Amino acid sequence: MTSMRRNSRCWKSGMVLLLLAGLTSCRQYMADQPLYKPYRESGFFPDGTSARPLPEGTIPQGFERIEPSANIPFPVTMDVLQRGRERFEIFCTPCHDHLGTGQGMAARRGFRLSPPSFHIDRLRAAPDDHFFDVITNGSGVMPSYAYQIPAHDRWAIIAYVRALQLSFNAAPADVPADVLRKLESEKQ
Ligand code: HEC
Repeated sequence: MTSMRRNSRCWKSGMVLLLLAGLTSCRQYMADQPLYKPYRESGFFPDGTSARPLPEGTIPQGFERIEPSANIPFPVTMDVLQRGRERFEIFCTPCHDHLGTGQGMAARRGFRLSPPSFHIDRLRAAPDDHFFDVITNGSGVMPSYAYQIPAHDRWAIIAYVRALQLSFNAAPADVPADVLRKLESEKQ
């Protein structure tokens, strides 16, 4: 009888010990878990890498899908030009200045390189999508503005840059007759 009671007490304390051991030893914090560093090799997957290859066409979260287009993919209205001008003045004038001649304050005060003028022949002849590519991916020392400027605004900026380019090379015949008359009268 006594040996049986001793036995069961022994059994109970054994269980308690086991439970305690279980509670303490298996505790794992999420912040402190075994993990692979990026690109570290692993024997787990047959191809020897620790990460799975991304499925084709994967887009990182927060990146919009952009349909490639050679030209501004919507009609250029006055609203578009006004939006483009506003965005241009926020994002581009610090380096390219208000007229796009490449004399912005940051450029004049020692940014790594002065940008080219938008009015040189090469950039006047460059297609719209060249500008889109430059704003999206950067160019030389100019950084990418893809994070700050959504695609629609990038095209609006390009429309405004085209207007600036035209303004540097417009002939009197490009100006509507009534506006031309007004300009002529103001000249005198
Ligand atoms: C921080 C300064 C800075 C800002 C802001 C900036 N750019 Fe630039 N950009 C440059 C510099 C510098 C170059 C010349 C880069 C080189 O050749 O290494 C350049 C080059 C360019 C070019 C010519 C690319 C070529 O084909 O040679 C275009 C077009 C252009 N920028 C458009 C823009 C537009 C549009 C914006 C506004 C959305 C903008 N940039 C904002 C500094 C800037």
